[in-house]
Amino acid sequence: MLFHVIFWGSLELHQHHSAHGLIQALSPVEPVTLVRPHAAARAARFFIERFPGTTMYAVKANPSPDLLRVLWDSGVTHYDVASIAEVRLVARTLPKAVLCFMHPVKAEEAISEAYWKHGVRTFSLDTMDELQKIVRATEGAQDLNLLVRLRVSSDHSKLSLAAKFGAEPEDVAELLMATRQASDALGICFHVGSQAMTPHAYAQAMERVRAAIVAASVTVDIIDVGGGFPSSYPGMEPPPLGAYFDTIHRTFESLPISYSAELWCEPGRALSAEYSSLIVRVEKRRGDELYINDGAYGALFDAAHVGWRFPVTLLREPESDAELTAFSFYGPTCDDLDHMAGPFFLLGRYQGGRFHRDRHARRLWLRDADQVQRLWRRRDPCRQRRTDGQPVHGRGRARAAHGDGDQAVLTARKSLSRSG
Ligand SMILES: Cc1ncc(COP(=O)(O)O)c(C=O)c1O
Repeated sequence: MLFHVIFWGSLELHQHHSAHGLIQALSPVEPVTLVRPHAAARAARFFIERFPGTTMYAVKANPSPDLLRVLWDSGVTHYDVASIAEVRLVARTLPKAVLCFMHPVKAEEAISEAYWKHGVRTFSLDTMDELQKIVRATEGAQDLNLLVRLRVSSDHSKLSLAAKFGAEPEDVAELLMATRQASDALGICFHVGSQAMTPHAYAQAMERVRAAIVAASVTVDIIDVGGGFPSSYPGMEPPPLGAYFDTIHRTFESLPISYSAELWCEPGRALSAEYSSLIVRVEKRRGDELYINDGAYGALFDAAHVGWRFPVTLLREPESDAELTAFSFYGPTCDDLDHMAGPFFLLGRYQGGRFHRDRHARRLWLRDADQVQRLWRRRDPCRQRRTDGQPVHGRGRARAAHGDGDQAVLTARKSLSRSG
């Protein structure tokens, strides 16, 4: 298997046939992101061929320009952008892409730049204030696609998106009627929460959509079912995506909407999860706790703050023992918060080559501490400088990485976390 490897802090692109080959050849000091373009292309083609409508990629899931180009080449033409930085990034990377600004709370300046400079015509909103903002920023434009976001339950999802956004049922009718007046195409959107573990989540949300359409008595042109399409992780085995598509198609067909209405979706995780994995180095072992060189303030936010159990594999020399053991991890900063409880079960690579078989996972590779120290001593006499307790890439670096266009850092920061 061929990997493209992007180093933190540099933009070098390397190709290696395995994670083992990479650490043997390069002995990386910093965390390394491995990317698998073919896996993202396969996921994109699956959505393009099987989802019964238009698939938009939710860029926040991983805004790597390389990934954007892979998705574009695989037929994804629409992109859900959630900030002006994402608008600029996608406009620069894929000049012909259709951009949809799907964050319900935007700066007026951002709407204006998106509309006038980048040709964005599609916006979401969940209040009258936001509607007025859009109308002002676009100077009453007549060519807008405006989607009203409904609040729906996240009960069936692993990460809730129910509290922050979405119009309440009692406000929806008035908002839909007002938005109809201001839009060329009127849509309704929602998000059932990320990693929705059953298709029923979408059926429930569609009932909200039905009630809203009936209450407002308006013609609706677009139904956007958002993201939430799950990937497989340890302890989380969702039904096949086809079952989600079937439920969405059936419930969409039963809605009282315009015969020409369009169905959209906005997957983030489902298109990007298989794209990348991360090699981290074990700096220290204390019983069943491993001190690694990435964590809560870097690419492993979900593992620390949401308790996500990424699949992990220990990269060791072939003769090493490969007993299955439950570990927790500490990241590189000085905070107790920088802790990933797991449990993460580590296996030696030679026990089954799991990396090659399990294609649906974000994967964390660990380097064995003994091996690392041996390699390190041989290659880097300055090792001692890093034992002063300073994080190699703590908060400052993670913040700097947020949306500032550094491709290498962005890839690592966003591929395994879900901020934005
Ligand atoms: C508006 C919107 N659309 C799509 C997504 C992507 O969700 P997922 O990664 O669960 O598919 C998100 C995630 O936060 C979102 O906020």
